[in-house]
Amino acid sequence: MSIATQERLIRPARNVYGSLRLPGDKSISHRYAMLGAFAEGTSRFTNFSTGADCASTLACMEALGAKVHKIGDAAVEVTGVAGRVTPAAHALECGNSGSTMRMISGLLAPQQGRFTLTGDASLSRRPMERIRKPLEEMGARIVLTEGHAPIEIEGTPLHPIDYTAPVPSAQVKTSVLLAGLQTAGTTAVRESVRTRDHSELALRAFGATINRTIDSVSIAGPQTLTAIDATIPGDLSSAAFFLCAAALFPGSNLVFDALGLNPTRSSLLDVLTALGVHIAVLNLEEKHAELTGTVQVTAPPQGLSSTTISGPLAAQLIDELPVLAAIGPYTRSGIRIRDARELRVKESDRIALVASNLRAMGAEVQEFEDGLDIPGGQSLHGAAIDSGGDHRIAMAFSVAALRAQGETVIHGAESAAISFPEFFDLLDLVAER
Ligand code: S3P
Repeated sequence: MSIATQERLIRPARNVYGSLRLPGDKSISHRYAMLGAFAEGTSRFTNFSTGADCASTLACMEALGAKVHKIGDAAVEVTGVAGRVTPAAHALECGNSGSTMRMISGLLAPQQGRFTLTGDASLSRRPMERIRKPLEEMGARIVLTEGHAPIEIEGTPLHPIDYTAPVPSAQVKTSVLLAGLQTAGTTAVRESVRTRDHSELALRAFGATINRTIDSVSIAGPQTLTAIDATIPGDLSSAAFFLCAAALFPGSNLVFDALGLNPTRSSLLDVLTALGVHIAVLNLEEKHAELTGTVQVTAPPQGLSSTTISGPLAAQLIDELPVLAAIGPYTRSGIRIRDARELRVKESDRIALVASNLRAMGAEVQEFEDGLDIPGGQSLHGAAIDSGGDHRIAMAFSVAALRAQGETVIHGAESAAISFPEFFDLLDLVAER
């Protein structure tokens, strides 16, 4: 299916002001949908992600025998298959979603039957060897197409492994844990950088026992899962665009209710604080071990300072780097990003697209294999932006456009719906012109 590409005009803003409650976190929604569909019983999720990626996960799980019942725009009821999926007659279409493809592969590898997973053009370019390798070590039968999707899986019983992930990746960790859940013995994943831990928390919420040490996660299988009711925290990676927009305007004031604040996801708040942004967090709550809170952000009157993002921080902030880079020219002395080579194999080559789009807006920027140097104190002008069909590029440059001279046109603006269909409407709501 091809979607017509849309353009979106973004006019400069004078300020950013208002209060927002954001749709559910994409990473948590994927996991709750997958585990709910695999568990025994009926789970109910409110504030489920409205993005197309999580709809892909629901559709795949439905094709595997789960019952999915949408209630209104943002609630969903999922009746699980109690640990045994039904092989689908057709390929499982994962759309643009790497999380769907990589995590479901681990879930299916120990099941009975044959499965084919396909994706759109962008997903079909992304590396899948990273899941094939550990799953094959567990005994899985997985065939890739030159390292990519389509993926063919012939389900077979697996044996446990102790795996050290060469690239920090929550998707790979989850894929191995979901296979380990169904495998007799203890499967462990070791990581040098603590990646987002939603899978560990979600598995526990659905009743599984997971063991964690400072640098490893392990699961003794086989274990069964039981349905839960949950409200999904607002998506901090979606909030990132608005947090960065607010950071650009002295006098701004944005408040987010019930925002996800899982510590493995919230490094952006530390980076913005280091840039001089004032952030207040109130009303902390915890549900199924996921933290939420009210977050209020105001920009410093003297403008943003500068920062370097490298090492483990680059991995922890990987989804927020495009928007941080996009506001880099407006800081006093720039933003430097290193150790972020993974950005090149996301929905697009995000290093190349950030650099070319910043240049289109008149910015000076230096590109490195693993990052970018964006000098500060620059004035940008409106331009034609090529999103490359990548949601986070489309939204990041909509934010940069708020402080540019003149109008910006975002090409491929429809891609925002991959994670955040409401983005442009909410931007119009909070951007004062
Ligand atoms: C995700 C993990 C990250 C992130 C992606 C979502 C997840 O990918 O970039 O948007 O939900 O586990 P990697 O696992 O490739 O780092």
